[in-house]
Amino acid sequence: MNIWSMFSQKKFRNSLHLWLWLLIFSWGTVVYAQDTLKKDAPANPATAGVDLEKGKSLWEGNCTSCHGLTDEVVVGPGMKGILERRSIEWLIPWVKNSQAVIKSGDKYAVELFNKYNKAVMTSFAFKDDEIKAIFAYVDKASKEVNVVVPPKETGTGTNQALSQQANGGSFNILLGILVITLVLVFAVLALMLSMVGKLLHQKENELAPEDREIVNQKFQPFSIFQNPAVLGGIALLFVLVSLKAGLDGLTNIGVQQGYAPKQPIAFSHKLHAGQYEIDCGYCHTGVYKNKNATIPSANICMNCHNAIKQASPEIKKIYRAIEKDQPIEWVRVHNLPDLAYFNHAQHTNVAGLACEKCHGEIKEMEVVQQRAPLTMGWCINCHRETVVDHAKDNKYYDRLMESHTKNSGKPMTVENIGGLECSKCHY
Ligand code: HEC
Ligand code: HEC
Ligand code: HEC
Ligand code: HEC
Ligand code: HEC
Ligand code: HEC
Repeated sequence: MNIWSMFSQKKFRNSLHLWLWLLIFSWGTVVYAQDTLKKDAPANPATAGVDLEKGKSLWEGNCTSCHGLTDEVVVGPGMKGILERRSIEWLIPWVKNSQAVIKSGDKYAVELFNKYNKAVMTSFAFKDDEIKAIFAYVDKASKEVNVVVPPKETGTGTNQALSQQANGGSFNILLGILVITLVLVFAVLALMLSMVGKLLHQKENELAPEDREIVNQKFQPFSIFQNPAVLGGIALLFVLVSLKAGLDGLTNIGVQQGYAPKQPIAFSHKLHAGQYEIDCGYCHTGVYKNKNATIPSANICMNCHNAIKQASPEIKKIYRAIEKDQPIEWVRVHNLPDLAYFNHAQHTNVAGLACEKCHGEIKEMEVVQQRAPLTMGWCINCHRETVVDHAKDNKYYDRLMESHTKNSGKPMTVENIGGLECSKCHY
């Protein structure tokens, strides 16, 4: 008796149902897994049942000038994962009076204090519950905050961190799992059907008359896909998955334009470039001669801030960066994908375009915001529309322009000098 005889003929028909149910079940599992993963991680028992709103306002009012929610150092260490590395019993006396904890000889505290160049953390006369509330909030918020990934490209001594939505990342992994699961399920389904199909062929002669009738309809493994209900189901799945992917793409575009991330230091262009009229090129030293504009290093800030506003907590962050020989981790705002090539000097120096054409009213901005869409269509539109007339004293251009205008009767645009050629913008 071989294993296949388990599939007596009626059972075979039921087994089709079984497979359909399995399909639906695994889909359900994936959806369920996606849901549970999306839910907040359970609250840490040490800080359960506290007032998160209170914690938030205490944190923002007292701690953010020295601490951030990521693992990035501001003046003190970043708070990411703090409840994993310290117990609440340690944290309460620390916040109340960190110097006392250090003097008590606590090994961790002493090492930390030395690591931070003996910078003294302020003492806070908070109640235990208030401190618990702060860390409950910090724990929750640090898990939701943007993660900073290592720099893609280094300018002159500058570390330009890219920020990426942590949520977006895990969603992509889920989508991957989803697609792989679906493919597997369909593969198994197809395999089983073809096996059963073969089996039926062998067993045809042993069949009861009513079953033989069914088999004689010339069963084909993939005939299940002719069933309108199954087809409908597959089509629906397909539409849902592509809709999700499409929506994701759309929101990514939305995130780009108008993107204005919070920076590690509250640096204001409105104050420096607007009110004090410091030239853009004083800080963005590459902008007239190189591909990259570059973000200024802390040393450029020190040209002025070794004397100006020394006591400001924001300026102290510059001192700390220099002391520790660590670049300030500015969050990059504008960012073309790697496949595109853009050169500042070509546009600011050769074409003589103002920064505002592409970056908007930077001199009015407290926080830099991406104003242009930075899409291929945006580059190309400007190349179609912009007349090249900036090189009047360049003989080569003069002749080119003259012959162009004579031949076409229209002024010469960037398009006419090859500004729409793929290879100009793509490596
Ligand atoms: C004036 C700056 C400053 C302020 C304000 C400040 N801290 Fe700190 N904090 C530090 C420094 C610096 C350290 C590193 C240890 C040291 O040098 O004493 C530190 C260390 C810590 C640590 C230990 C971190 C670790 O990685 O183990 C915790 C927890 C902490 N601070 C919490 C807080 C909380 C909560 C507040 C607000 C209620 C706060 N700090 C306000 C400067 C500050
Ligand atoms: C005193 C120095 C200083 C001056 C002057 C200055 N900037 Fe900046 N700029 C910075 C710093 C620091 C950053 C990074 C922090 C930020 O984004 O706010 C920056 C960021 C930028 C960015 C965003 C970079 C990115 O990450 O995509 C643009 C665009 C920019 N500056 C344009 C200008 C323009 C235009 C001017 C002149 C009107 C100007 N800047 C003048 C210091 C300066
Ligand atoms: C050419 C001189 C100059 C340079 C270079 C310069 N700043 Fe300033 N900065 C100023 C002046 C002037 C003020 C206003 C001081 C005041 O309000 O009294 C100021 C104010 C600030 C403030 C506000 C401080 C506060 O608490 O009010 C911050 C933050 C700041 N600068 C950051 C930076 C950073 C970061 C850099 C380097 C990227 C930089 N500055 C480069 C001249 C400069
Ligand atoms: C023709 C449009 C255009 C003009 C004009 C322009 N920029 Fe940009 N800028 C861009 C684009 C596009 C990026 C993104 C580049 C990338 O991601 O490779 C960018 C990025 C930047 C950055 C980010 C860091 C870097 O090194 O690229 C700074 C700073 C900046 N621009 C400053 C300026 C300043 C200052 C001016 C004026 C002197 C200026 N830009 C003029 C289009 C422009
Ligand atoms: C505000 C208008 C404007 C925008 C926006 C713009 N450009 Fe340009 N671009 C110009 C002008 C004007 C020139 C002509 C410079 C010259 O005469 O060589 C030019 C020239 C170029 C060239 C050299 C073309 C050649 O034939 O040598 C490249 C490459 C280029 N741009 C890439 C880009 C990319 C990539 C973007 C988008 C990220 C972009 N540009 C956005 C105006 C623009
Ligand atoms: C003036 C500059 C410019 C020219 C000319 C240009 N591109 Fe692009 N292209 C870009 C920029 C900038 C991006 C990235 C913008 C984005 O991600 O939306 C891009 C993106 C792309 C992408 C990726 C699209 C995506 O969704 O990621 C493809 C493919 C592409 N270009 C093909 C071409 C081809 C083919 C040509 C020639 C017919 C061409 N490009 C000419 C600037 C240009």
